Amino acid sequence: MSDLSGKHIVLGLTGGIACFKSAELCRGLVKAGAAVQVVMTEAAEQFITAVTMQALSNRPVYTSQWDAREDNNMPHINLSRQADAILLAPCSADFIARLAQGRADELLSLLCLARPADRVPLLLAPAMNREMWAHPATQRNLAQVAADGAHVLGVGSGDQACGETGDGRMLEADELVEELTALFQPKVLAGQRVLVTAGPTFEAMDPIRGITNHSSGKMGFAIARAAREAGAEVTLVAGPVALATPRGVRRVDVKSARQMLAATQADVDRADIFIATAAVADWRPATEADQKIKKDGTGDAPTIAFTENPDILATVAKSERAQRRELFCVGFAAESQDLANNAQAKRERKGIPLLVGNIGPLAFGQDDNQLLLVDAQGTRELPRASKLVLARHLVGEIARRQAAWKQ
Ligand code: CTP
Repeated sequence: MSDLSGKHIVLGLTGGIACFKSAELCRGLVKAGAAVQVVMTEAAEQFITAVTMQALSNRPVYTSQWDAREDNNMPHINLSRQADAILLAPCSADFIARLAQGRADELLSLLCLARPADRVPLLLAPAMNREMWAHPATQRNLAQVAADGAHVLGVGSGDQACGETGDGRMLEADELVEELTALFQPKVLAGQRVLVTAGPTFEAMDPIRGITNHSSGKMGFAIARAAREAGAEVTLVAGPVALATPRGVRRVDVKSARQMLAATQADVDRADIFIATAAVADWRPATEADQKIKKDGTGDAPTIAFTENPDILATVAKSERAQRRELFCVGFAAESQDLANNAQAKRERKGIPLLVGNIGPLAFGQDDNQLLLVDAQGTRELPRASKLVLARHLVGEIARRQAAWKQ
């Protein structure tokens, strides 16, 4: 199942150079499984042709409220009743002003006004010059359309087609697909604060070298994304990994276990749920040399002494809030054998309500995984699937268990 399969999306294009990104967006939506119906304003047609958008969406494009193809001559009613969501990308400053005023003298604004607002969400991806974006009139209009129930998706920052640099760029196609996907996920963690640790840690022995492990961080990043999709406010404390931050997630980068502990402790007092997916190094070199350790010419390798790192999960699980059941702690266990027994023993040792086990060598760096959920009631298997699909299931399981555990 693709993320948007079965969803019918009206993709509205208004006049702006960012229309060139709408072609890729349309492809991305189709690839994610959506049926895409493109509607363009007259100004949008100055920037990209309806032919291009028809070819990419595999459907004729609508550009006029007088379109004779509709038996009842009411495309604004028919298109808005079919839709699961309307995404305006790009949404120009002028079109935002039109929405704010409830104008309806051309097809796209007419169908936005005519949509059944309680079941067809309207999303806006604004795109404009930075001065237009910053103008009080635009900000006032945006506040008005948000108050009227639209989801304003924000803008990117950087080089603009006009040669200036600043806020106002339309979000990228993959970011918009991510936002739309998030919209359709059940909001099982609405209003909750979630803290996730992810990735490996790096324990330095000198300025050049250190010890680390094969954790890619993919599972933790997928969980952070799934928690945010489920309506949570998410902080992600990440060890050294090369992964994009999920949209809407606050990320704190760290290297060592001690830095990860400090970043966790700085945030955990605000959290309702703590999910420790990080593969924290159990030990670090006892000393970190100021300069690179050189061969001494004798042929003897240096002896490195190790010292134990703090156990972040165990530390948090012992905190007063966790003990008072205000903070639900979830651990991960990467085992190499006898998963169920090892995981249950680890859950009890760490003093946490839920531990998620996987077979480490089959999970590290992979895009899919399988999980074993272990709690006081027993075990439950989540069969092999992509890490994002598993993360969404896991978030649902966590939400259910946390609600029961708090009572
Ligand atoms: N963990 C942690 N801090 C550490 C070590 C582990 O927060 N210093 C967390 C991990 O993020 C994971 C869980 O504890 O959620 C299990 O970690 P693991 O290293 O597998 O468990 P250990 O207690 O180290 O047990 P063992 O080495 O015997 O497998």
